[in-house]
Formats: sequence, structure tokens, C-alpha cells
Amino acid sequence: MGDSQDDENRQTPRPPIGKKEMRLMNSRGRELLLRYWDFPLFESFLRKHGTSLRDTSVLDAGCGSGYTLELIWNRFSPAKLTAFDIVPEQVEIAKSRGTPATVFVGDITALDLPDQEFDAVFVCGVLHHCPGWRAGLAEVSRVLKAGGVLLLEEPETIQLRFERLLTGDSSVLNTGYSLRNLMKEAARNGLTALESRPLYFGLFRSYLYVKGVSRRVAEHYVARDLLRTPDASRVAQGQEAPA
Ligand SMILES: C[S@@+](CC[C@H](N)C(=O)[O-])C[C@H]1O[C@@H](n2cnc3c(N)ncnc32)[C@H](O)[C@@H]1O
Repeated sequence: MGDSQDDENRQTPRPPIGKKEMRLMNSRGRELLLRYWDFPLFESFLRKHGTSLRDTSVLDAGCGSGYTLELIWNRFSPAKLTAFDIVPEQVEIAKSRGTPATVFVGDITALDLPDQEFDAVFVCGVLHHCPGWRAGLAEVSRVLKAGGVLLLEEPETIQLRFERLLTGDSSVLNTGYSLRNLMKEAARNGLTALESRPLYFGLFRSYLYVKGVSRRVAEHYVARDLLRTPDASRVAQGQEAPA
């Protein structure tokens, strides 16, 4: 009896996200927050740096039930959208939304994707669920092109401590997770923060990172990228003055 219980525990890994949070994540409330709070902030970051995701290749890492896919598709008009989540049921819901995206079951800490595949990666509230968040960040950086952007949002440690009080669990805290350490890890992986703003009254934080360039050169890259977009190429050829 004891043995079969042990076998069962071994074969059934703990889900990365609790049932209550999953319900919250799949709720209309979450959709409204994403639409009117999280994504406008991301969009303002990109606009501020004069960059656009139009006709680019975008990855949504840990897409959950896929509402973020709709937002990315409709707001940013990428040419190609790819997404994954570690929970198969979430992937099924995401696929059923019908957004023109390739969606699959995957683990952010060990991605079966080529190096330097994407112009942009979105990571919305995923790494704080992964004890292997350091490996997750390294994988995200690996699949980003040099000069590509990472749009990231994760909670402050205080939010996780509060969660641990309520649910008795937030195992990521035992792995040294904090936004400070996340930023250090990002720097170690060649990611430079261009923007960072508090979200949800300071319980979370949103970031815009760029890969593979120093801060000064990062500004240079973004300017170069702007010149590559169709409208801006007319600017570059002197046919249209920049706004
Ligand atoms: C808080 S939800 C956020 C979902 C979606 N990004 C959103 O903003 O609505 C976190 C998601 O991360 C996924 N997740 C947790 N650990 C993961 C891992 N190692 N690899 C991929 N996805 C993971 C969970 O299954 C869950 O769907």
C-alpha cells in the first residue's frame, strides 16, 4: 500500500500552479487586467523606444489559457506567433481560442526551440512558478535574437510571502527568487533593462529588456530597428520626416 502510494507520488509531479490560481488566471478578471493594464504598459514601453513588433516572430512563454495570444496578435500584429505552457489543459484552452498561433506543451526551463529564433518574447507571471527560474531566463535569452526584446512581468517577493501565508506554499522563495536576483540573472544572460515600472500597485513589476547589447548600444539598436520598419524606411530615404 505504502509503496503504491509512493509510486503514485513519483509519477504525478506537483502541478506548477495551484487550482485556485489557475481559476483566477482563466477568469474574466484576469483578461480585463491584461487588456487594460498589463498590455498597455508593455505597449507604452515599446512605443517609448520607437520599436514595433509588426511582422516579427514572437514567442509567448507560459501562455496559460491563451488570452495573451489574442492580445499579442491584435495589438502587435506579428508575422508569426508561437506559444507554450507546461500544463496540457491550458494549452488545449489556448488552442481552442483560434488565434493563428502555434501552441504546444513545453517547459520554459528546457525549450525544444532553436537559438535566436524570436524577435520578441513575452513572459507574463511565469518564472515565479518555476523553481528553475534561472534556467528559464537563460532559455528565454537563448531563443531571443541579438537585439530582440523581452517583455516580462513578475511579482515582488512580498507578494509571494503573502501567498505563502495564505496557501502555505511558494517554493520559488526557497530558490533565491526575488526581482533583484531576477535582474542580476538577466544581466548574466546578456539582457539589458530599458524600462521597468511597478504593476498592480507595486505587487508586480513590468520590464522591457533587450538582448545582447550594452545600454548605450541598446538605444542605438532600437533606432536601427525603427529604420528597418516599412514606414521608417521611407524616413531613412528622406521621403518622410520623422514625427
Ligand atoms: C500566472 S499564470 C500566467 C499565464 C499567462 N501568461 C497570463 O499572463 O495569463 C502562469 C503560467 O505559467 C505556467 N508555467 C508554470 N511553470 C511553467 C514552466 N516551467 N514552463 C512553462 N509554463 C509554466 C503555468 O502553467 C501557468 O499557465
